[in-house]
Amino acid sequence: MKILLTGGAGFIATHTCVELCAAGHDVVIVDNYVNSNPEALRRVEEIVGHPVKAYEADVCDPEAMERIFAENQIDVVVHFAGLKAVGESVQIPLRYYRNNLDSTLTLCETMARHGCKRLVFSSSATVYGEPDEVPLREDMFCKGCTNPYGWTKYMIEKILQGVVNADPEWSVVLLRYFNPIGAHESGRIGEDPNGIPNNLMPYITKVAAGQLKRLTVFGNDYNTPDGTGVRDYIHVVDLANGHVKACDYAMDHVGCEIFNLGTGVGYSVLDLVNTFSRVNEIDLPYMIGPRRAGDVDACYADPKKAREVLGWEARKTLEDMCRDAWHWQKNNPKGYHD
Ligand code: WQD
Repeated sequence: MKILLTGGAGFIATHTCVELCAAGHDVVIVDNYVNSNPEALRRVEEIVGHPVKAYEADVCDPEAMERIFAENQIDVVVHFAGLKAVGESVQIPLRYYRNNLDSTLTLCETMARHGCKRLVFSSSATVYGEPDEVPLREDMFCKGCTNPYGWTKYMIEKILQGVVNADPEWSVVLLRYFNPIGAHESGRIGEDPNGIPNNLMPYITKVAAGQLKRLTVFGNDYNTPDGTGVRDYIHVVDLANGHVKACDYAMDHVGCEIFNLGTGVGYSVLDLVNTFSRVNEIDLPYMIGPRRAGDVDACYADPKKAREVLGWEARKTLEDMCRDAWHWQKNNPKGYHD
């Protein structure tokens, strides 16, 4: 298959590109590098051992997208491109709605013009909102999101379901990620957030590297075993392999299907801190601070449907995630800017 990855230089997309190439697929990338670095693609080429065709372009740009589909016979698109910082989306909601929705609409219009009707979409567990119960199942009612970023993911799911309802030739796979962390075992690609990380694992690795003074644990009075927030951390390589299975599924089916990509196991903030310290033999200074607005007590997946329908399940452990995340940070103190 020839597969187009929008936002292909990003954290999850680069790991997905490596696994798609390993599975024998031909990958084409489009990325405007507003939130990523072309060096990441050079690292991917180093890992896969061959060039990967890449276009520097904005998915919102109809002319650029027309050229890509005119020059490449695309079988499946995996749509990663989008702004993704929860906190930032609260500050600049219009930019998030314009960018994330516009890019999706332009992409789908271009795909339809070229008869390419198979799309895997990078959605998020954030669409579930504040869950009444865990584990989360795909058939649960999504109560509403807590931030504009989450609303863009929710709206795009609805847009794509509408496309399938209007044209049953379309195949859409909605992948709801939980908390992707870790890095490729080579240590050559990994998570490279701009500025001070919002997410837990990249913050931990920068504390471990001495770039940040200490971790603040956002609250220890949640209704969880140790009082700190519980999440479903999934190794980014497991997540990438979920996309390989989703592309295969999209080729063989029509209609719209939703899949959770999580391990089904919830770990607390302190579980992650203690595992990271133990596995990497690094003391990690932290303090308990106030809760962060919008955080929920616990969020983890019921991964049954992906296991039974896609034939996929996460295999890597929390130890693997902590070891690989540190291996990337240790070898790339400034990420791709070294
Ligand atoms: C995890 C836990 C925090 C930082 C977000 C998005 C979600 C998805 C994944 C895109 C929570 C705690 C964190 C810190 C802390 N992104 N924490 N100190 O919020 O579960 O999910 O990223 O799809 O959409 O919402 O991930 O890593 O920010 O937080 O104590 O400095 O770590 O309170 O319990 P989150 P996170």
